Amino acid sequence: MLRQTNIILAIESSCDDTAAAVLKDRKVLSNFVANQNLIHKAYGGIVPELASRAHQSKIIPVVSHALTEANIDKKELTAIAYTQGPGLLGSLLVGSSFAKSLSIALNIPLLPINHMQGHLLAHFIEDENFIPPDFPFLGVTLSGGHTQLILVKEYFKMELIGTSLDDAIGEAFDKCGKRMGLNYPAGHQIDKLAKDGDHTRFNFPINNLKGYNVSYSGIKTSFTNFIQKQKDPKFITKNLNDLCASLQYTLIQIILIKIEKAAQDYGISQIVIGGGVAANSEIRKQLNNIAKSKNWKVFLPSIVYSTDNAAMIGIAGYYKLLQKNYGSISDSPQARLKI
Ligand code: KG4
Ligand code: ZN
Repeated sequence: MLRQTNIILAIESSCDDTAAAVLKDRKVLSNFVANQNLIHKAYGGIVPELASRAHQSKIIPVVSHALTEANIDKKELTAIAYTQGPGLLGSLLVGSSFAKSLSIALNIPLLPINHMQGHLLAHFIEDENFIPPDFPFLGVTLSGGHTQLILVKEYFKMELIGTSLDDAIGEAFDKCGKRMGLNYPAGHQIDKLAKDGDHTRFNFPINNLKGYNVSYSGIKTSFTNFIQKQKDPKFITKNLNDLCASLQYTLIQIILIKIEKAAQDYGISQIVIGGGVAANSEIRKQLNNIAKSKNWKVFLPSIVYSTDNAAMIGIAGYYKLLQKNYGSISDSPQARLKI
């Protein structure tokens, strides 16, 4: 029998953020993220071995901090949710091993969660402005590793209808940012710099593949070639704002075309966005404008639940717990876990 109130500890360690959260049913009591940006900054991208070592040293303090902030003793926990995949295998191993050990020590259920499903289910967290979407809806994940269009029929009944065939949208932000000398991850900086730029100044090709798949490697190549072609060594600094605005405009158009097509073809008017790039102010503005003109409902996560966090893993865990859909210690982390 489920107790009336469920206290869930959630752990997220799929990439370069060590995160823990405590949820009381659908409410978040604490949500703590220790990022590793300083560790990877010098390399212009994530170094997997350094990421897993950092997770190892941070996981205990991060979990302790989340429990203390929530004012919860570990003996009060009902279950432990953790990210099973997709992500970097070494990073996933740290979170999953920790979750498994704690579940054995406390004799409570384990709830393995798909990180991408977590990004979408974050919209079911009961915060002040709680208006969850109704099923079915079109889920769109926009992150550093994924760009997906997903038909969401139920909490864990999700069908992938489109994906990036190469780079993810966040990866394109980060890699093009690197070409402009910006630090990793560059998405947030491009967003800020683009605010003072003119997006019509430079034109990059907007590809439109058949169906719902997208490609982001072409834009990365044309952006790089364009930068390398410039003779003025100060070209980037002189044009940084316009470059960011033009690049951002193109990256966003590529996915907006597909969102509009999928919504129309499937007759769906609820669009649910998740993932780090959902924090982008321009995509938020454009989606809200389209929503008004097409009479859609667009669900944008608050910024804390856009980028990687453990609260989204906790809410997915809550629904798995209600379904008594428990995992076991023999579940292995999966770098390429499918939606
Ligand atoms: O979902 P997330 O935190 O981690 C993954 O699961 O990958 O997404 C990280 C990605 C990075 O590529 C980062 O540059 C991008 O999200 N990002 C942004 C913004 N904030 C984070 N991209 C564009 N604009 C932003 N404001
Ligand atoms: Zn993510």
